[in-house]
Amino acid sequence: MTGKTNLPAGRQVAVSGIKASGVLHIGNYIGAIEQFVRLQSKYKMFVFIADLHAITVPQDPNELRENTLNVAALYIACGLDLKKTILFVQSHVPAHVELGWILNTLTPLGELERMTQFKDKSQDKGVLAGLLNYPTLMAADILLYRPDIVPVGEDQVQHVELTRTLARKFNSRFGSTFKEPKELLRKEGARIMAIDNPTKKMSKSAGSNNYIALTDEPDIIRKKIKTAVTDSGSEIKYDVNNKPGISNLLSIYSAFSGESIASLEKKYAGKNYGTFKSDLAELLVQKLSPIQEKYKSLLKNKKSLMKILDAGAKSANKVAEKTMAVVHQKIGLI
Ligand code: TRP
Repeated sequence: MTGKTNLPAGRQVAVSGIKASGVLHIGNYIGAIEQFVRLQSKYKMFVFIADLHAITVPQDPNELRENTLNVAALYIACGLDLKKTILFVQSHVPAHVELGWILNTLTPLGELERMTQFKDKSQDKGVLAGLLNYPTLMAADILLYRPDIVPVGEDQVQHVELTRTLARKFNSRFGSTFKEPKELLRKEGARIMAIDNPTKKMSKSAGSNNYIALTDEPDIIRKKIKTAVTDSGSEIKYDVNNKPGISNLLSIYSAFSGESIASLEKKYAGKNYGTFKSDLAELLVQKLSPIQEKYKSLLKNKKSLMKILDAGAKSANKVAEKTMAVVHQKIGLI
């Protein structure tokens, strides 16, 4: 036993989990998916669908199955390259649960109780132990692959900090085993607001007029953009305080076209909201159409999609099992 995993040399490693939910919207695309697609040219990426995290709140089994496949298909359709990125389903790699358990035995209860996400959710009735232990499973997700970075949203930074604490604790108690990873925060501009209420974040739980789903049909996209909330006045100008509606639409336009907001303001100087909105709708239709086609064709053949995920799990298991062999040996499991 050398204590080393067999990660491909050279490229740095990134790990991130995706929570499978029913719909993914353009806010998710700009905030996360697009970031993964960019990172994969630089990092060796392990990306998994966090189905075991999903069940920390009750899930309908059929919906969970469907969402897991939908999200996998959507990420591939958006440009995750399976030659560069290892895409898999969390529950297909049992080491996540195993290391999660082991980390639970090193984690003071108080550390879990003080997590913001737990505190927020534990107000609900019937809170489950799985919710409390969510961060130790997440730490296991990460540490198994010894990543350099963990791309996450702001709300997950505390969990990555705990991951570092646990890595340090394990290392100091049992000898150097894990690497302490850094979080990679999504860029600030990625805050896409609801199109029917530009002072709130775009969210799938706030009704379908709130977001544009990546799978919305062209006519739905056109209709939603047409009825998107704008502001008084008629100038196309980025001003979050006084013009939150138009500013949000400008952010979306900029993210999908690659044009800067300043150059969009110039382009639309003297033009009205209607023209701007109809151009934005066409831009979205044009950008999302190829994604939707690929998505539909992936979902048409669920068997081959499962094969893709099986292959991902196989690669992930190889790395994870090596890490676990070291862990077993260090802590004295025979
Ligand atoms: N908790 C993360 C979220 O809510 C999802 C997740 C699970 C994750 N395991 C992870 C993210 C490991 C990064 C690394 O978004």
